[in-house]
Amino acid sequence: MKIKTIKPEHDLALRHSHSPPPMATGGHHIHLQNNRKKFSLLPLLSLLIFASIFLVLSLSSKTSISSSSSQTLLLEGRSEPDPTYSSSRFGVCNYSEGKWIYDPKYRFNHKYDSSCKEIFRGWNCLLNNKSNAKEIATWRWKPHGCDLQPLDPLQFLQTYRDTNIGFVGDSLNRNMFVSLFCTLKRVSSDVKKWRPARADRGFTFLEHNLTIAYHRTNLLARYGRWLANANGGELEALGYKEGYRVDVDVPDSTWAKAASFHDILIFNTGHWWWAPAKFDPVKSPMLFFEKDKPVIPPVQPNVGLDMIQYVEKTARPGSIKLFRTQSPRHFEGGDWDQGGSCQRLQPLLPEQVKELFSVQNNGTNVEARLVNQHLYKALKGSDFQILDVTHMSEFRADAHPSTAGGKKHDDCMHWCLPGITDTWNDLFATLLNNVKVRT
Ligand SMILES: *[C@@H]1O[C@H](CO)[C@@H](O)[C@H](O)[C@H]1NC(C)=O
Ligand SMILES: *[C@@H]1O[C@H](CO)[C@@H](O)[C@H](O)[C@H]1NC(C)=O
Ligand SMILES: *[C@@H]1O[C@H](CO)[C@@H](O)[C@H](O)[C@H]1NC(C)=O
Ligand SMILES: *[C@@H]1O[C@H](CO)[C@@H](O)[C@H](O)[C@H]1NC(C)=O
Repeated sequence: MKIKTIKPEHDLALRHSHSPPPMATGGHHIHLQNNRKKFSLLPLLSLLIFASIFLVLSLSSKTSISSSSSQTLLLEGRSEPDPTYSSSRFGVCNYSEGKWIYDPKYRFNHKYDSSCKEIFRGWNCLLNNKSNAKEIATWRWKPHGCDLQPLDPLQFLQTYRDTNIGFVGDSLNRNMFVSLFCTLKRVSSDVKKWRPARADRGFTFLEHNLTIAYHRTNLLARYGRWLANANGGELEALGYKEGYRVDVDVPDSTWAKAASFHDILIFNTGHWWWAPAKFDPVKSPMLFFEKDKPVIPPVQPNVGLDMIQYVEKTARPGSIKLFRTQSPRHFEGGDWDQGGSCQRLQPLLPEQVKELFSVQNNGTNVEARLVNQHLYKALKGSDFQILDVTHMSEFRADAHPSTAGGKKHDDCMHWCLPGITDTWNDLFATLLNNVKVRT
């Protein structure tokens, strides 16, 4: 595959608006509030076909599976245990179940620090003097029944030589992308910064010709302002005057080209589907369209999420696609716009996790598990590998920027870096290990 430099052709207005987004309490890089008018001026309303566009190798063509392996990697694939690391070579391992262990030796021998320039300011908890910033990366995730191997940056660079890896999603995927960048940069500093395939940001590690990029998209699906047509229509007949048109089967333009460029793609979406401050159910509801026609009767956002379809169109032989599950928020005492905060200095106990996230309790942060229910439904039968980071992250109420995020509100949504998205990348690398990258 050929890497071409693609000039940023993005409407700059989209990236420099200043209203804080409703859900991204800490990342200024999601800018939507001011986009409404822009969108209404653009002919976005006629956009088509949500296609994610690649093939995943069938798991049966894994490179190799040691005969001693009976570990099951969560959800898909089979882990190949490294005898030096696996405590339970024959047991079944679900990487999502386990506990965080305090281990001061763990981090600092192989990860990056606060000097990594790519860390978004609000996430740099060490520089921002968050009181527990140093502690955050000293907790190690210990799955029951096995160990999660830390991503080895040199080995990663070598394994994925001549490979393009794209993160496609909201600011939480950028958080994960930055973690991977900083981890690799520490061992390979010859880097070209550019924007491959219309990415928001991207880098090539020149020595290994490994490119990683972040494509910013909130819903994955294309959306824009919708206004009632004077000539009428089905939605108009139902009394709708304005809202957002969401084409569940159309990829957002920020990543439409990513599908054919990257060898490995990591998607996420979720936070923006539960953002009533933007998609006001009354004043500016999400109006779903499929095949260019409004979905009638109109459905709620959660049902819209169910409808996201991934059409395999232009097969990209050898590419791998993963879907990352929802990243949990930890607002206590109110939501982000109601003075909610996250002041804990240690991971939650299992009882506390249950209390804060159980769907029965319907607490402030319940959407993490609700979104997952919809994701699993939407992805059923698809070729996505699922990267389940939700439960392990639910414990980490201590790992958000909180008041050190530099915003008016506490940031209990994004994660401090270094921090737990490093662990997500450990899991990512583990999962990739089990899937052959190229045919
Ligand atoms: C870098 O990798 C890409 C595939 O991702 C390949 O198309 C390109 O030829 C490689 N460049 C060099 C200089 O090897
Ligand atoms: C692994 O654990 C998670 C979290 O408890 C659970 O939701 C999931 O169903 C488990 N997966 C398997 C394959 O047992
Ligand atoms: C963090 O503390 C250092 C040392 O006390 C100080 O120089 C720096 O200005 C502080 N940073 C912030 C963002 O408060
Ligand atoms: C959960 O709480 C929200 C807001 O607190 C409320 O709007 C919603 O109706 C509740 N859902 C259920 C199922 O009780």
